[in-house]
Amino acid sequence: MKEATNFISFAGVSHYYNEGDSPAINNINAVIRRGEFIAVVGANGSGKSTLARHMNALLLPSRGKVLVNGADTRDAEKTVDIRKHVGMVFQNPDNQLVAALVEEDVAFGPENLGLDPDEIVLRVDSALTAVGLSEFRNKPPHLLSGGQKQRLAIAGALAMRPDYLVLDEPTAMLDPGGRKEVLSLLGCLKKEYGMALVLITHLMEETLLADRVWVMSGGALVADDSPRQVFRHLELLAEAGLEPAPAVMLAARLRRAGWDVPEHILTLDELVNSICRL
Ligand SMILES: Nc1ncnc2c1ncn2[C@@H]1O[C@H](COP(=O)(O)OP(=O)(O)OP(=O)(O)O)[C@@H](O)[C@H]1O
Ligand SMILES: [Mg+2]
Repeated sequence: MKEATNFISFAGVSHYYNEGDSPAINNINAVIRRGEFIAVVGANGSGKSTLARHMNALLLPSRGKVLVNGADTRDAEKTVDIRKHVGMVFQNPDNQLVAALVEEDVAFGPENLGLDPDEIVLRVDSALTAVGLSEFRNKPPHLLSGGQKQRLAIAGALAMRPDYLVLDEPTAMLDPGGRKEVLSLLGCLKKEYGMALVLITHLMEETLLADRVWVMSGGALVADDSPRQVFRHLELLAEAGLEPAPAVMLAARLRRAGWDVPEHILTLDELVNSICRL
């Protein structure tokens, strides 16, 4: 029955940073299965990072329960195990890089797990290959570009061989080129490793790669559906302080202006094709 525990689940989870405050996340019920790609969107302060930090026991629920592959995050004996299963990557790559050389940085996590040196070498090699940084292995991390540093931070998480990789705005500090590098890497990770991805982002176009989009608003999870379904609900998005991807907005304006543009449009390509067929 191993499959029965192959997920992260939130059951009635609320978190209060301080007694008397309103909850930063409120009564969250949701499941992340192995191999799924979930994008989390929401205005500033809507609870996205608080939610993410519950996924590897960096924060514990004030109410309700988070299970990671069947282990309760409140069970202190399971914390090390949970952190092996759930990797985290944050916004600023400079704060996540710890060693003097790229390869040492990737080895840091596996060394802390107490793995065999041979196994560590294997993991470092494969993680650096996965993120396309093998040729930089003997360089100091501070010489890398922003996009390369963020890919290095992802390699560090990958070397832990997690089942779930949670990324809290990993592209926020990057220029469009760096953002593309990181996003195309995420697409590969899902395809090749079957790893579950949770991507927190402010950029609606980044959610289009996901299987499901979670919309956070005022600490609540107000939508959990495919990008196509979520972007149909323009009012719900507006209430959450969000604008859908540009092509969705443009399609809606064209519809209002009397054009016969279908409701399912998500990308610029789809919009162009639909207009050319009219
Ligand atoms: N360490 C903390 N102590 C007290 N309150 C906090 C703390 N961290 C976050 N909060 C509060 O919890 C709420 C949710 O914050 P959170 O950081 O989870 O939002 P977010 O959606 O990640 O926002 P952003 O888009 O700005 O990253 C906010 O009201 C915030 O002020
Ligand atoms: Mg945040």
